[in-house]
Amino acid sequence: MTKILMVCLGNICRSPLAEGLLQEKVDPKKVKVDSAGTSNYHLGKAPDKRSIAVAKKNDLDISQQKARQFSVADFDEFDYIYVMDNSNFADVINLARNAEDEKKVKLILNELYPEENKDVPDPYYGGDQGFDNVYKMLDESTKIIAKKLHH
Ligand code: 4NP
Repeated sequence: MTKILMVCLGNICRSPLAEGLLQEKVDPKKVKVDSAGTSNYHLGKAPDKRSIAVAKKNDLDISQQKARQFSVADFDEFDYIYVMDNSNFADVINLARNAEDEKKVKLILNELYPEENKDVPDPYYGGDQGFDNVYKMLDESTKIIAKKLHH
Protein backbone atom coordinates (compact mmCIF):
# COMPACT_ATOMS: atom_id res chain seq x y z
CA MET A 1 0.00 0.00 0.00
CA THR A 2 1.39 3.37 -1.04
CA LYS A 3 0.12 6.27 1.07
CA ILE A 4 -0.11 9.80 -0.26
CA LEU A 5 -1.00 12.98 1.62
CA MET A 6 -2.10 16.23 -0.07
CA VAL A 7 -1.41 19.39 1.96
CA CYS A 8 -2.52 23.04 1.71
CA LEU A 9 -3.14 25.82 4.25
CA GLY A 10 -6.80 25.35 5.19
CA ASN A 11 -7.54 21.81 3.91
CA ILE A 12 -10.79 23.19 2.50
CA CYS A 13 -9.99 24.44 -1.04
CA ARG A 14 -6.98 22.91 -2.81
CA SER A 15 -5.92 19.73 -0.99
CA PRO A 16 -9.48 18.27 -0.84
CA LEU A 17 -9.59 18.56 -4.65
CA ALA A 18 -6.14 17.01 -4.94
CA GLU A 19 -7.22 14.15 -2.66
CA GLY A 20 -10.41 13.47 -4.64
CA LEU A 21 -8.71 13.78 -8.02
CA LEU A 22 -5.93 11.33 -7.16
CA GLN A 23 -8.29 8.92 -5.39
CA GLU A 24 -10.48 8.57 -8.49
CA LYS A 25 -7.44 7.71 -10.64
CA VAL A 26 -5.88 4.95 -8.52
CA ASP A 27 -6.73 1.46 -7.29
CA PRO A 28 -7.98 1.98 -3.71
CA LYS A 29 -6.63 -1.45 -2.78
CA LYS A 30 -3.10 -0.28 -3.62
CA VAL A 31 -3.11 3.44 -2.85
CA LYS A 32 -4.42 5.37 0.14
CA VAL A 33 -4.96 9.10 -0.34
CA ASP A 34 -5.66 11.68 2.37
CA SER A 35 -5.34 15.45 2.83
CA ALA A 36 -4.52 17.89 5.62
CA GLY A 37 -3.92 21.60 6.25
CA THR A 38 -0.91 23.24 7.84
CA SER A 39 -3.27 25.53 9.78
CA ASN A 40 -6.01 24.75 12.28
CA TYR A 41 -8.38 27.38 10.78
CA HIS A 42 -11.11 25.03 9.54
CA LEU A 43 -10.85 21.84 11.63
CA GLY A 44 -13.71 19.41 11.05
CA LYS A 45 -15.23 21.50 8.26
CA ALA A 46 -16.36 20.20 4.88
CA PRO A 47 -14.53 21.55 1.81
CA ASP A 48 -15.33 25.07 0.54
CA LYS A 49 -18.62 25.18 -1.42
CA ARG A 50 -16.72 26.32 -4.51
CA SER A 51 -14.38 23.29 -4.38
CA ILE A 52 -17.36 20.96 -3.89
CA ALA A 53 -19.08 22.66 -6.88
CA VAL A 54 -16.17 22.46 -9.32
CA ALA A 55 -15.65 18.80 -8.37
CA LYS A 56 -19.37 18.01 -8.77
CA LYS A 57 -19.40 19.68 -12.21
CA ASN A 58 -16.76 17.07 -13.13
CA ASP A 59 -18.62 14.12 -11.52
CA LEU A 60 -16.40 14.00 -8.45
CA ASP A 61 -17.92 14.05 -4.95
CA ILE A 62 -15.63 15.54 -2.28
CA SER A 63 -18.44 16.71 0.00
CA GLN A 64 -17.82 14.11 2.71
CA GLN A 65 -14.24 15.16 3.45
CA LYS A 66 -13.43 16.84 6.80
CA ALA A 67 -10.56 19.25 7.39
CA ARG A 68 -7.76 18.21 9.70
CA GLN A 69 -4.37 19.65 10.60
CA PHE A 70 -1.06 18.20 9.40
CA SER A 71 0.97 16.65 12.21
CA VAL A 72 4.46 15.19 12.62
CA ALA A 73 2.93 11.68 12.78
CA ASP A 74 1.98 12.12 9.11
CA PHE A 75 5.67 11.74 8.22
CA ASP A 76 5.47 8.18 9.61
CA GLU A 77 2.11 7.33 8.03
CA PHE A 78 2.67 8.62 4.47
CA ASP A 79 5.16 7.78 1.72
CA TYR A 80 4.74 11.02 -0.22
CA ILE A 81 3.51 14.42 0.95
CA TYR A 82 2.46 16.72 -1.89
CA VAL A 83 2.17 20.38 -0.90
CA MET A 84 0.27 22.97 -2.97
CA ASP A 85 2.61 25.96 -2.64
CA ASN A 86 5.99 27.15 -1.40
CA SER A 87 4.53 28.46 1.84
CA ASN A 88 3.06 24.99 2.62
CA PHE A 89 6.44 23.53 1.68
CA ALA A 90 8.26 25.71 4.21
CA ASP A 91 5.70 24.94 6.94
CA VAL A 92 5.89 21.17 6.43
CA ILE A 93 9.69 21.08 6.07
CA ASN A 94 9.89 23.02 9.30
CA LEU A 95 8.23 20.08 11.09
CA ALA A 96 10.51 17.44 9.53
CA ARG A 97 12.66 15.58 12.05
CA ASN A 98 15.29 14.26 9.67
CA ALA A 99 16.34 13.93 6.03
CA GLU A 100 13.99 10.98 5.51
CA ASP A 101 11.00 13.15 6.47
CA GLU A 102 12.22 15.98 4.23
CA LYS A 103 12.62 13.67 1.25
CA LYS A 104 8.88 12.87 1.28
CA VAL A 105 7.80 16.48 0.73
CA LYS A 106 7.20 17.60 -2.87
CA LEU A 107 5.55 20.55 -4.59
CA ILE A 108 2.68 19.03 -6.55
CA LEU A 109 3.16 21.24 -9.63
CA ASN A 110 6.74 19.98 -9.99
CA GLU A 111 5.06 16.85 -11.41
CA LEU A 112 3.84 18.98 -14.35
CA TYR A 113 6.64 21.55 -14.47
CA PRO A 114 9.72 19.77 -13.07
CA GLU A 115 11.98 21.90 -10.89
CA GLU A 116 10.03 25.13 -11.56
CA ASN A 117 8.71 25.25 -7.99
CA LYS A 118 5.37 26.79 -9.05
CA ASP A 119 2.47 27.36 -6.63
CA VAL A 120 -1.10 26.15 -6.97
CA PRO A 121 -2.60 29.60 -6.34
CA ASP A 122 -4.72 29.94 -3.20
CA PRO A 123 -8.26 30.45 -4.59
CA TYR A 124 -9.89 31.25 -1.22
CA TYR A 125 -10.25 35.00 -1.70
CA GLY A 126 -10.90 34.90 -5.46
CA GLY A 127 -13.87 34.01 -7.66
CA ASP A 128 -15.12 30.75 -9.15
CA GLN A 129 -12.65 31.00 -12.03
CA GLY A 130 -9.82 30.47 -9.56
CA PHE A 131 -11.35 27.14 -8.59
CA ASP A 132 -11.67 26.03 -12.24
CA ASN A 133 -8.01 26.86 -12.71
CA VAL A 134 -6.96 24.95 -9.58
CA TYR A 135 -9.10 21.98 -10.65
CA LYS A 136 -7.36 21.80 -14.05
CA MET A 137 -3.86 22.04 -12.57
CA LEU A 138 -4.60 19.35 -10.01
CA ASP A 139 -6.29 17.08 -12.56
CA GLU A 140 -3.16 17.20 -14.75
CA SER A 141 -0.76 16.74 -11.83
CA THR A 142 -2.67 13.81 -10.35
CA LYS A 143 -2.76 12.09 -13.77
CA ILE A 144 1.03 12.05 -13.71
CA ILE A 145 1.20 10.89 -10.09
CA ALA A 146 -1.31 8.09 -10.79
CA LYS A 147 0.68 6.95 -13.81
CA LYS A 148 3.88 6.82 -11.72
CA LEU A 149 2.11 4.80 -9.02
CA HIS A 150 0.93 2.16 -11.47
CA HIS A 151 4.16 2.03 -13.48
P1 4NP B 1 -6.71 26.12 1.05
O1 4NP B 1 -7.34 27.59 0.96
O2 4NP B 1 -5.38 26.28 1.74
O3 4NP B 1 -6.56 25.74 -0.39
O4 4NP B 1 -7.68 25.27 1.80
C1 4NP B 1 -7.49 28.42 2.08
C2 4NP B 1 -8.58 28.26 2.91
C3 4NP B 1 -8.74 29.10 3.99
C4 4NP B 1 -7.81 30.08 4.25
C5 4NP B 1 -6.72 30.24 3.42
C6 4NP B 1 -6.56 29.40 2.35
N1 4NP B 1 -7.98 30.95 5.35
O5 4NP B 1 -7.15 31.87 5.54
O6 4NP B 1 -8.94 30.78 6.11
